[in-house]
Amino acid sequence: MTSTVPRRPARKAGIDLPVLGLGTWRTIDRAGPDRLAGLLEAARTVGARLVDTAPVYSDAEPRLARLLRQDPSFFVATKIWDTEPEAVEAVFAEQLTGYGRSCIDLLQVHNLNGWRANLAWLDRQKAAGRVRFTGVTYQFDHAFGMGGTRADLAHVIAADQVDFVQVNMNAAEPTLAEDILPAAAEAGIGVVVMRPFGEGALLAEPPSAGFLRELGCTSWSEALLRWVLTHPEVTTVLTATSRPEHFLANAAAARSGPLGPAEAEAVADHARSVLMTRSGR
Ligand SMILES: NC(=O)c1ccc[n+]([C@@H]2O[C@H](COP(=O)([O-])OP(=O)(O)OC[C@H]3O[C@@H](n4cnc5c(N)ncnc54)[C@H](OP(=O)(O)O)[C@@H]3O)[C@@H](O)[C@H]2O)c1
Repeated sequence: MTSTVPRRPARKAGIDLPVLGLGTWRTIDRAGPDRLAGLLEAARTVGARLVDTAPVYSDAEPRLARLLRQDPSFFVATKIWDTEPEAVEAVFAEQLTGYGRSCIDLLQVHNLNGWRANLAWLDRQKAAGRVRFTGVTYQFDHAFGMGGTRADLAHVIAADQVDFVQVNMNAAEPTLAEDILPAAAEAGIGVVVMRPFGEGALLAEPPSAGFLRELGCTSWSEALLRWVLTHPEVTTVLTATSRPEHFLANAAAARSGPLGPAEAEAVADHARSVLMTRSGR
């Protein structure tokens, strides 16, 4: 029998969530219906029934929603991208219909696009019972020519405006751990981490087997995931994959838990060198 991944509390939301969730950016575009069903089955097997998607992830969300229609056990995190109120309402109506639910677990303002108006709208949906928890996501300032900034994210956290934040953090890009994570934790806001493998780029140059042995890891993906879990403020880390066996490997890594401080530093050193090599510096 496969054991399940640990869970961590999200204090303000008053729930706990699996430390591992399934991201759906790009990977599900390539996965046929059987592969997608296999990914969800892998998530069920390891007790990681949490998915993150968005209406702008090609056709990932409608395909995912179709498969989850019969399974209310998954915690569904999705997003609002638009800023026009009519478009926000229309996309949300499609999301509810698609999942066959009267309420979405976590609706996040994507990249903080139009966050002031969208958070006010989200609060109304929460009061009406159509959204269980609210959130914002932040990858980098003015992402894709829209979006908010790191200062906006800090403001949203300080003003206690959401239940969850989703942030970009990995061993090569750790700066949000300095102030954003502690501020969220102090407010009891759950932290969802995106891009633990830098969209796969960090996996391109794994260290030697001897280096991994010294870390107590069997793979570089394990080391990178356990580096994220070393931060106690993190509630859940999302890994996107098109391969059920990769999701099962990520679950095994999550079960191994955080790295020690020396191992975490060694992982960060190698990850930074991978990023520098890849960006040609
Ligand atoms: N602004 C936002 O709101 C935002 C932005 C970015 C991401 N996100 C969310 O966060 C999720 C995760 O981030 P991400 O998709 O950018 O990147 P990621 O999880 O850092 O990396 C995904 C890549 O890692 C590979 N991978 C996964 N597990 C592996 C394993 N055990 N061994 C080898 N390769 C493995 C996958 O390839 P294979 O298919 O070959 O496994 C895929 O190419 C997204 O899917 C999305 O849900 C949100």
